[in-house]
Amino acid sequence: MSTQQPWAMVTGASSGLGREFAVQLAQQGYNLVLTARRQSVLDELATELRNSSTIQVAVIPADLTSADQVQQLLSELERRQINIELLISNAGMGHFGPFAEQTTEQIQEMLRLNIEAPTLLLHQLAQKMHAAGRGQILQVSSYAGLQPIPRYSVYSAAKSYAIALIQALRYEYRKSPVKLAVLAPGFMQTGFHEAAGHEHTRWMKMLSLTPASVVTAGLAGLKKGQWLITPGWWYKINNVVARFLPRSLGSAISAAVVKVKHKRNTTEQTNPSQRQAA
Ligand SMILES: NC(=O)c1ccc[n+]([C@@H]2O[C@H](COP(=O)([O-])OP(=O)(O)OC[C@H]3O[C@@H](n4cnc5c(N)ncnc54)[C@H](OP(=O)(O)O)[C@@H]3O)[C@@H](O)[C@H]2O)c1
Repeated sequence: MSTQQPWAMVTGASSGLGREFAVQLAQQGYNLVLTARRQSVLDELATELRNSSTIQVAVIPADLTSADQVQQLLSELERRQINIELLISNAGMGHFGPFAEQTTEQIQEMLRLNIEAPTLLLHQLAQKMHAAGRGQILQVSSYAGLQPIPRYSVYSAAKSYAIALIQALRYEYRKSPVKLAVLAPGFMQTGFHEAAGHEHTRWMKMLSLTPASVVTAGLAGLKKGQWLITPGWWYKINNVVARFLPRSLGSAISAAVVKVKHKRNTTEQTNPSQRQAA
């Protein structure tokens, strides 16, 4: 075990992209703080990483939709005297469905996890990194933050916030040793869509990126000093082309890509009067 190795913290490390960040950062020699809600899954990952490397791994479970738990996470870092040099602010989720049909609780969950928690973490950790004279922050947004997706409206808007925040902070921190970047991946086949209540459509599968390629691109982009990282050639091209299209067309295309086509069942095919007669 080395105490000289830098510490990175990955939020949402129990699954998908966050898990892959943890694996690749362990390979790069970072000591790791893993956080998410499911402690048993984090403990298993921590054991796996400790067995395959010489790094230290700390598991600090937290539900980041609670501002109190965000604060407890930060206090726990202080208590354990862990100075985070790299924050991967990755935990995130979206609920799929028409805005009008979403519950207040679903909307609050998306706003708290995708906006409030990363902002509070970034606010406190960036100051500590600045005082320490070094640090890096990679905020995970989404391609949906660049091209908002109907039925993921609140999620897309929350991910746009992350892009706007990092763009503005890059200027504020231009003379600071703290480096910031935002990662805007396209579709990935992780636990995200199951949590969102959404099937992977054929288009989404076709456009899917692997978490491994997204993490590699994200860490390389951060190292190169890029501020907005959009992995995958299709998404890069689309990002350029989209600038010349009306925004309404962009959202119409996104709506079609995520549209789930179900075979109609017998009840749906008959109209109400037919059903009464049957
Ligand atoms: N999958 C995609 O197509 C896609 C595309 C673009 C961007 N993204 C973004 O990529 C990031 C990672 O998502 P993913 O695709 O890897 O999905 P995922 O497999 O569902 O992982 C989400 C992670 O967030 C954690 N999380 C969820 N709610 C939480 C809460 N209340 N408090 C703390 N942690 C919480 C989950 O852990 P617990 O359940 O253990 O808490 C899990 O570790 C997200 O920010 C997402 O918006 C995903």
